Amino acid sequence: MTQATSSQTEYNQSLDPAYLTGSNEKWLQRKDAATPRGVSVLSDFFAARGENAELWDIQGRRYIDFGSGIAVLNTGHRHPRVLAAVRAQLDQFMHTAYQVVPYPSYVALAEKINRRAPGDWSKKTAFFSTGAEAVENAIKVARVATGRSGVVAFDGAFHGRTYFGMALTGKVSPYKAGFGPFPGDVFHAPFPNQLHGVTVDQALDGVRRLFKADIDPGRIRERDPLLAPTDHTRQRL
Ligand SMILES: Cc1ncc(COP(=O)(O)O)c(C=O)c1O
Repeated sequence: MTQATSSQTEYNQSLDPAYLTGSNEKWLQRKDAATPRGVSVLSDFFAARGENAELWDIQGRRYIDFGSGIAVLNTGHRHPRVLAAVRAQLDQFMHTAYQVVPYPSYVALAEKINRRAPGDWSKKTAFFSTGAEAVENAIKVARVATGRSGVVAFDGAFHGRTYFGMALTGKVSPYKAGFGPFPGDVFHAPFPNQLHGVTVDQALDGVRRLFKADIDPGRIRERDPLLAPTDHTRQRL
């Protein structure tokens, strides 16, 4: 058997549920050899299966899944309606890239979200693959719509691991250390937080100081007509 064939066999086996055995220790060693430390991992056990709010590792140990994919699994593991929707989609087609060939479910979901979003004006929704991508695009939309380039983010907040996500993130360690320089015109203001001893008055003072020392408020609020968006750019949104 050639090397390529043998690694293909190994990979195919890894997709077989029966292969999800062995010790967590063994898989940790393989993980450390095969994947970089930069993708830091919090747990020392490997998931084999999940049901509702519970997970089982490859050694058969059972856990309550408080992590839930960092709070994105509101319906738990393998909710029957989610499974049915995924299976129905897989039976239709895999992927078209919506920008290349659109499909009705994208539009229908956007309509549903538009109806539920607060406000009695007309709304539009776009979907992105990750949170960081959504944040990046929100900044792009805001800059085009307002003609203002400055962005104020809060201390301590996490916004993603892309370069603009890191620029917005108000925590140097562990997210930004060693990765600069970051995109410009991003400023951090203190967030009122009792736990960290920051009052609302101190936070407001921080914003006032920001506009005195770091950024012209005109780059945050619309002031210069030359920077204001044209009808053309507004129509593009
Ligand atoms: C508030 C917030 N913004 C952005 C992100 C980045 O999302 P993603 O990891 O999908 O890029 C996260 C992810 O945890 C988040 O909690």
